[in-house]
Amino acid sequence: MNDKIKVLISAEKVDARIREIADRINEDYKGKSIHMISILKGGAYFMTELSKYISEDIPVTFDFMQVSSYGNGTESSGHIKFTKDLDESIQGRDVIIVEDIIDTGHTLFYLMDLLAERKPASVKLCTLLDKPGRRVRDVKVDYEGFRIDDLFVVGCGMDYAQKYRNLPYIGVIETE
Ligand code: IMP
Ligand code: MG
Repeated sequence: MNDKIKVLISAEKVDARIREIADRINEDYKGKSIHMISILKGGAYFMTELSKYISEDIPVTFDFMQVSSYGNGTESSGHIKFTKDLDESIQGRDVIIVEDIIDTGHTLFYLMDLLAERKPASVKLCTLLDKPGRRVRDVKVDYEGFRIDDLFVVGCGMDYAQKYRNLPYIGVIETE
């Protein structure tokens, strides 16, 4: 059965905003390389979309990590499980963590701490969406796509029970 999904942010708006973020990153990382790390699975969509608009003069590498803080529902458990570590060392590298959405902040709070211990040259955080109203842990966001209210959204990498990650827009599941 398919859910009914209402468009919150259109595909065009998402794409335009991703280009704007890439422009800022292109300015900030002139003469450097970027080691992008996305948090599976949700962050992978945004990372590939964002990387398309990074200048060819800036070398980009990808790595992935996975932590799980959600089950199949829409409620945060508050528990973080580390299920996949990075493949490469980040020591001395300029890292950008690319995330789909920051909600309570538990995930990023834990990860930023863990990554800082591995002595990168720098770590910045880039998120497509931010739900500041739900924040429990304080995390500093360097690049942000959109701020949204306390809504459960899907699309652009985000899922509901593993579905809808492929949608090119950000949507809300309608409940009857
Ligand atoms: P946090 O640890 O509460 O900040 O949760 C972050 C993670 O929860 C995100 O990376 C998403 O995977 C998931 N999440 C939070 N809000 C939503 C939502 O509205 N839709 C889909 N996934 C979400
Ligand atoms: Mg995620």
